[in-house]
Amino acid sequence: MDVFEALRARRSIRAFRPDPVPRGLVERILHDAVRAPSGTNIQPWKLHIVAGAVRRRLEREVLAHRETDPPDQKAEFPRLGKRKEPYASRMRTLGKHMYGLIGIPKGDQAASWEQWGRNFKFFDAPVGLIFTIDKDLDRMSYCDVGMFMQSIMLAAKAHGLDTCAQGAWNNYWSVTRRVLSLPDDEYIIAGIALGYADDAAPVNALVSEREPLDAFATFHGFDSDMTAA
Ligand SMILES: Cc1cc2nc3c(=O)[nH]c(=O)nc-3n(C[C@H](O)[C@H](O)[C@H](O)COP(=O)(O)O)c2cc1C
Repeated sequence: MDVFEALRARRSIRAFRPDPVPRGLVERILHDAVRAPSGTNIQPWKLHIVAGAVRRRLEREVLAHRETDPPDQKAEFPRLGKRKEPYASRMRTLGKHMYGLIGIPKGDQAASWEQWGRNFKFFDAPVGLIFTIDKDLDRMSYCDVGMFMQSIMLAAKAHGLDTCAQGAWNNYWSVTRRVLSLPDDEYIIAGIALGYADDAAPVNALVSEREPLDAFATFHGFDSDMTAA
């Protein structure tokens, strides 16, 4: 698979088969993905890879906490509660398509809560990745982690695996921190579910929309004679 194929084929997968992913394969993916760039090459990413009993314990404890306590994202990692336009509409469109495929009617809070909770099972993927970053680093370093995440997702795709990036892991950070013994000086940024897609699952039919080029790209200087530059 070349890079163009991988870019087009990667999609967020939200239902995985139970087939295990061997540690060696995860290592090969990481070995390639770590060629991702980072500002001044500081390589700020830290990664916790969970499988087996630890993954099951993490799932169990986060879901139990979720039943009794509100999300604890605010204290750890400031995030927007509400997004402005055009972001809010794009988010609603995604939700409409996703919940439509799963068959969750609009306004069914209980079913939506349940579906969101599947994040904390890594959507049944056998391997979960949790990304953390040193709290002292600035926003530029978060770009670096994002690039590393995308490199992992593309490398995984090239190996026949699928992924879903998960900001959801930023929600119940206190439990994740405790279960994985993460140091207090690191933020939990996000996760990635890693495994083999369950192609029969309706949610995996989702192909998210993209805005046309002119909605986000402004070209400067292309209309003038480039050779005269
Ligand atoms: C940083 C980040 C966090 C995300 N968090 C979640 C999440 O918590 N749960 C989820 O189901 N999808 C999550 N996604 C997946 C996005 O919804 C998805 O990338 C987007 O809708 C585009 O669809 P695609 O990945 O299939 O192209 C996240 C993606 C990114 C990049």
